[in-house]
Amino acid sequence: MGLCSIEEMNLEEDKTQLSITRIDDLLEGLSQVAHDIKSPLAALETVLSNTNNMDEEKRLLIKNSILRIKSISQDVLQKNKRIVELKEEKSRCLINQLVLELVHEKLHELYANKSIVINVNNYLPEGELEVSLQRSRFKRTLSNLLNNAVESLGEGGYVEVDLSMNKKSDLVLVVTDNGKGIPAHVLPSLGKKGFTYGKKEGNGLGLYAAKKCISEHNGLFKLSSKAGNGTKIVMTLPVE
Ligand SMILES: Nc1ncnc2c1ncn2[C@@H]1O[C@H](COP(=O)(O)OP(=O)(O)OP(=O)(O)O)[C@@H](O)[C@H]1O
Ligand SMILES: [Mg+2]
Repeated sequence: MGLCSIEEMNLEEDKTQLSITRIDDLLEGLSQVAHDIKSPLAALETVLSNTNNMDEEKRLLIKNSILRIKSISQDVLQKNKRIVELKEEKSRCLINQLVLELVHEKLHELYANKSIVINVNNYLPEGELEVSLQRSRFKRTLSNLLNNAVESLGEGGYVEVDLSMNKKSDLVLVVTDNGKGIPAHVLPSLGKKGFTYGKKEGNGLGLYAAKKCISEHNGLFKLSSKAGNGTKIVMTLPVE
């Protein structure tokens, strides 16, 4: 990636977000859940398409059920309802394990039929690191970022996930892809709720939610990209 020419932006959380009302919070969370349901549904569809010996009636039943869940979640999204992330307690997690677990899920379930490359590079001094975070929410965040990265890839594309620590002993998590990148004029709008660019079925919630999650874990979220060169997301999280 041509680092010198990369356009950079800092998607720091807008502090006014903190003053939204509780009812808004509730509705926003509902939208987020509806959005995040898409990944496991896609995994189910992949599994279904690989099941040759299943009774046709059963297959149809499962297929229709998946379609119904999809349409329910789409309904919720279209009404543009909002809720804050359903409050999940923080827990101590081995971040290296969490990342590997998620990447494994993606590669072996969601992308089982595709030749997608996602490399995890562990540069942590001790090889592992315990971080206090909202485990499911954080996984969904990373999942959304990986989805974006994978969706941007062309032939021979790959995604790298780097784990390291900076001088302040913060966790640094970097997701890089060599996909199609993002044009400079689009960068300022990224991370705004509902902003999507160049995707037929984009809801514009992935980056918004990721940015919010990292901010609510007292971290920093930075995205840099250049059209034709790929995208890099750097997340810095204090190790509490
Ligand atoms: N790694 C990436 N490479 C290229 N473009 C990206 C990347 N990440 C984000 N984008 C751009 O940013 C836009 C916003 O991303 P975001 O994840 O918020 O929404 P979305 O992917 O359009 O929809 P969804 O809510 O379903 O994730 C995308 O539409 C895409 O144009
Ligand atoms: Mg997305």
